[in-house]
Amino acid sequence: MKNPLIIYDSLTGNVDRFASRLEYRKMKVSPELEIKQPYLLVTYTTGFGEVPRSTQEFLQRNHSNLLGVASSGNKNWGQLFAKSADIISSQYNVPILCKFELSGTYNDTERFIREVNRIVQFNSKVDRIKQ
Ligand SMILES: Cc1cc2nc3c(=O)[nH]c(=O)nc-3n(C[C@H](O)[C@H](O)[C@H](O)COP(=O)(O)O)c2cc1C
Repeated sequence: MKNPLIIYDSLTGNVDRFASRLEYRKMKVSPELEIKQPYLLVTYTTGFGEVPRSTQEFLQRNHSNLLGVASSGNKNWGQLFAKSADIISSQYNVPILCKFELSGTYNDTERFIREVNRIVQFNSKVDRIKQ
């Protein structure tokens, strides 16, 4: 996996903006989207610390290729800040890349890219061992 694929979900545009700053291949969650290759997910947190329904439904169909997750949120929600990353991480046993507020800062983007690189390197090693 040399060229990572980012799948993102966004309701009010913050994650759209975060994703637009990333120079990776990207696709937005949509009702019929099927992903047949490894990908990283960026979503947001809704309700009281909940995973958006659109993200949940996407993951029900596509969780087998999920490599890691990041979530947007708002620190006003205290303990529930970006909790959808925690829920998805424990439900599907994947690492959290980062949690960020709204559309994220420059530092959030840098951290996300660092974590993606780490996962890409790890997966390339796994691929070599499997060959
Ligand atoms: C109804 C509602 C519930 C929310 N609940 C949470 C929450 O529990 N935890 C959190 O960190 N952020 C929460 N947020 C903030 C959103 O996660 C945040 O605004 C995010 O950037 C939205 O992403 P989007 O603009 O890409 O849809 C909530 C926002 C709304 C409108």
